[in-house]
Amino acid sequence: MAIHTTPTQLLEPIETASRDEITALQTRRLKATLANVYQNVPHYRRAFDAAGVHPDDFTALADLTKFPFTTKKDLRANYPFGMFAVPQSRIMRIHASSGTTGKPTVVGYTANDIDNWADLVARSIRAAGGRAGDMVHISYGYGLFTGGLGAHYGAERLGCTVIPMSGGQTEKQVQLIEDFKPRIIMVTPSYMQVIIEEYARLGLDVKKSSLEIGIFGAEPWTNAMRRDIEAAADMDAVDIYGLSEVMGPGVASECVESKDGPVIWEDHFYPEIINPDTGELLADGEEGELVFTSLTKEAFPIIRYRTRDLTRLLPPTSRAFRRMGKIVGRSDDMLIIRGVNVFPTQIEELVLAHPELTALYQLVITREGHLDEVEVLTELLSAAVSSEQTATLGNTLQVRIKNLVGISAKVSVLAPGAIERTQTGKSRRVIDKRAKA
Ligand code: DLL
Repeated sequence: MAIHTTPTQLLEPIETASRDEITALQTRRLKATLANVYQNVPHYRRAFDAAGVHPDDFTALADLTKFPFTTKKDLRANYPFGMFAVPQSRIMRIHASSGTTGKPTVVGYTANDIDNWADLVARSIRAAGGRAGDMVHISYGYGLFTGGLGAHYGAERLGCTVIPMSGGQTEKQVQLIEDFKPRIIMVTPSYMQVIIEEYARLGLDVKKSSLEIGIFGAEPWTNAMRRDIEAAADMDAVDIYGLSEVMGPGVASECVESKDGPVIWEDHFYPEIINPDTGELLADGEEGELVFTSLTKEAFPIIRYRTRDLTRLLPPTSRAFRRMGKIVGRSDDMLIIRGVNVFPTQIEELVLAHPELTALYQLVITREGHLDEVEVLTELLSAAVSSEQTATLGNTLQVRIKNLVGISAKVSVLAPGAIERTQTGKSRRVIDKRAKA
């Protein structure tokens, strides 16, 4: 593995700007964003009015705390397009992510938004050591998920050759890497581990592959996993962070020269850390919930969005912008299973649609090798159900979970009373047995 540095002439001027310049830009952009949402998104007008605050009250970054937070619940209440600040005719693309129940969270992009997004992912790939002319193998899923298309447009913008492989078909992933010889791979870290295992299964040496850089994200991963992947595949592994509500991949991304946490692209997103219980603003360095305000988005501007991701803001190192630490957890119960965001309430809704089942259910998550496995334990209301009916019930639920939530789960329909009742009265819905490194 080489130690890379990024020549200054490759950086955009803002990546080496002074804090004063960044603050001035953020203040200007934030002011325009607040005025825009107040004017064009009824939800924000109502929310600002209810909080007794007006965009004119914002003159400096510190004033942002006067404005209300936005949550997934607000997005759900305005499903599907109520949070858009431009007419549908100006929307160029729509993406979606998991909602807490059946309805997904919907986001939209204007042509300009797609353009900015491509620029930021291009900047992220460059920070990882990628350059124009490199070949990039993309194994993030294409579709409503922002991973595939977000990575794709950014790699094209940088001037790379793109292999839009998407997820799955692991043997074919290996075959194409071997035959096309990409320098860069963009994929979830856990699927990278699966690809590494597939190399061994096929009797091939992944260390000898053409891959030099991996840009991994969409799920939490540790520095121990970084070391494992780097050692196993002889490559540099960097962390890319993002979320659909704020843009998609490339809200923040790590520099290969320092590998010290994703750099937040602060010219487009304003970060805050809050105490998840009180909403109070915390100082840089303190651990809490990450909150983002978009600074340049047209179709789906977002004010103080509570990401539910727990982390810290860190001082600038390789770039002028602040960094974030690794995501250490969430302040809600969202799970990420094989890169798919899953809320237990999504499963609950499907279980409750079956009157033969009790409302008690448990999700048991394990990791077999490097792949997450999920078992959904459900319980019959009455013993007077034939084993045939029980099997049909399990199959139906399994198919619905696959179709509506997007994960392959094993469904077990148990006898009445089989699911443990806690003494505290609070049932344990999720049993996550995946090792936390
Ligand atoms: O996962 C966007 C993305 C795609 C990021 C590809 C990076 C690479 P969502 O599906 O909306 O968007 O899920 C967002 O995933 O709130 C985090 O909880 C988690 N997440 C994303 N990146 C990271 C990361 C995409 N690098 C949610 N480390 C976020 C830890 C991450 N968690």
